[in-house]
Amino acid sequence: MTALRRVPWRGIALGALILLAAPFAFYAFRFGLEGAGFGALRETYLIQPAAPFGNGAISLHMILGGALTVLVPLQLSPGLRRRFPHWHRGAGRLLVAGALLTGAAGCAFILMRGTIGGMWMDAGFLLYGALMMLAAAQAWRFARAGRFVPHRAWALRLFVLVLGSWLYRVHYGLWYLATDGLASNPEFTGTFDSVQNFAFYLPYLVLLEIWLRTRPVPPELRTTACEKG
Ligand code: HEM
Repeated sequence: MTALRRVPWRGIALGALILLAAPFAFYAFRFGLEGAGFGALRETYLIQPAAPFGNGAISLHMILGGALTVLVPLQLSPGLRRRFPHWHRGAGRLLVAGALLTGAAGCAFILMRGTIGGMWMDAGFLLYGALMMLAAAQAWRFARAGRFVPHRAWALRLFVLVLGSWLYRVHYGLWYLATDGLASNPEFTGTFDSVQNFAFYLPYLVLLEIWLRTRPVPPELRTTACEKG
């Protein structure tokens, strides 16, 4: 029993999460680089001739989004945070800047070009981008102020939001495996697609809120402040 308690379960879970999300992160990163002109571009409607701003926005958001997907679970490792507080602060700043830019570039793309799925997909992804920017700004603001209880809550919201893009693809993969694409179509206007516009992040945020409100706050967050950067 004591031996089981000593197993670093959280580290193992975070490592497994990184391994599971890494193929999508790599796909996004590489797609973004191609969109930015590095390497032969695959066939895609997202990059269009004579539309440099939209192309730049979608490519930038894919490059940064891909990097964030593998970096954000590392930030949650208590071992890394305790042993390497400088890493936590430095990576935290990068994550906040990356999330602000990813959200802003994704929103800019929607406002310039719109999404393939139309109004509801635009709405779902605009809200997603806005929440990501809000969570990043709040996590940074509370860390700067030395208020680590709300910092942790906003950082966890950011974690859920960043992984939302991967979860969106996981939902599609599982749905297509189970139903062969019932209520989904290539225009992303089926009932399943419409639900997905919000279902890859809102239910997870609700679950997180319930968890935050029902679990005691770790005592070290109330008593000690990781030094401010
Ligand atoms: C955080 C990590 C993110 C990653 C890794 C990511 C990755 C990607 C990738 C790879 C695509 C290309 C489509 C595909 O191949 O599936 C894409 C499309 C798109 N993303 Fe993101 N994204 C992220 C966050 C966001 C955010 C925060 C927004 C919000 C504004 C956003 C908005 C969009 C839009 C509007 C499209 C184009 C949809 C379409 O019309 O096909 N993404 N993303």
